[in-house]
Amino acid sequence: MRIATLTSGGDCPGLNAVIRGIVRTCSAEFNSTVVGYQDGWVGLMEDKRSQLYDDENIDRILLRGGTILGTGRLHPDRFKAGLDQIRANLEDAGIDALIPIGGEGTLKGAKWLSDNGIPVVGVPKTIDNDVNGTDFTFGFDTAVSVATDAIDRLHTTAESHNRVMIVEVMGRHVGWIALHAGMAGGAHYTVIPEEPFDIAEICKAMERRFQMGEKYGIICVAEGALPKEGTMEMREGEIDQFGHKTFTGIGQQIADEIHNRLGHDVRTTVLGHIQRGGTPTAFDRVLATRYGVHAARACHSGDFGKCVALHGEHIELIDLNEAVGTLKAVPHGRYVTAKAMFG
Ligand code: F6P
Repeated sequence: MRIATLTSGGDCPGLNAVIRGIVRTCSAEFNSTVVGYQDGWVGLMEDKRSQLYDDENIDRILLRGGTILGTGRLHPDRFKAGLDQIRANLEDAGIDALIPIGGEGTLKGAKWLSDNGIPVVGVPKTIDNDVNGTDFTFGFDTAVSVATDAIDRLHTTAESHNRVMIVEVMGRHVGWIALHAGMAGGAHYTVIPEEPFDIAEICKAMERRFQMGEKYGIICVAEGALPKEGTMEMREGEIDQFGHKTFTGIGQQIADEIHNRLGHDVRTTVLGHIQRGGTPTAFDRVLATRYGVHAARACHSGDFGKCVALHGEHIELIDLNEAVGTLKAVPHGRYVTAKAMFG
């Protein structure tokens, strides 16, 4: 068979481990060829492709962050308008099946191609961990590790200066990174989009710490967090060229409110793309490799219209429409558990 793959959406550590898993499995188990398209869907539409060989170069990308294929985003409308071109390019290249590696947006595109007769097996990727139907996406564990290390470091400087430190993490519209990094890093409060916050509650928790003699505080804030209705003015974001709502820096806005209400010295750290860079953790290397191996095998067994997923210990195949229906949000019960450690 001739298998094609591409990486689409925000990059994250582990993408190359998936590519390596696909190439090595296709070569060793099926003597199949793998073709990589550059820069996500755009490269598929513009037929920017190259063969990927099972050689020393592929072997060493296991530990490299980013993606050797490049990635990018494409507005759904432009993608859908390119169906005929995509189909023609795949046929010209003699491609039997396509493995798109991406987040919820990419998997929506994969489902649409599958619904239009193109053999597809998806691989769920994102640091946000918001893809429905799988316990974890690769990239998430590395982002949490980076954010946890940052929070560990913020404790010592906050304590030295009797400051409140706000650390803003990624996650788009869900709070998985903040929930895990906040708990792992011992943050004294964590704010996530699924649980609109009350700035008065946050101030109360910080004030209690100072009154008890713990004269500093760490607050982990997900970039998509929002205040309870009517509790705090918020700067409004716009809609970007890909249809995503831009954020307006919730971490700094919370910092300003705490300073204005309590007078404490407050600083904000926005981790941003540091969470997306560098080498994947061992967990992400293993999960990504397993996803690549199983996606390659699914193509050869004709299991199309599916997406690989982690369920407990096992990699299973789910229908693509399960992966794209809704975002996997943090359940209320997980936040109730985290709250036991606040203050
Ligand atoms: O979806 C992954 C993600 O890192 C989000 O957590 C974040 O909001 C967004 O991508 C950033 O997008 P960009 O890389 O285009 O700035």
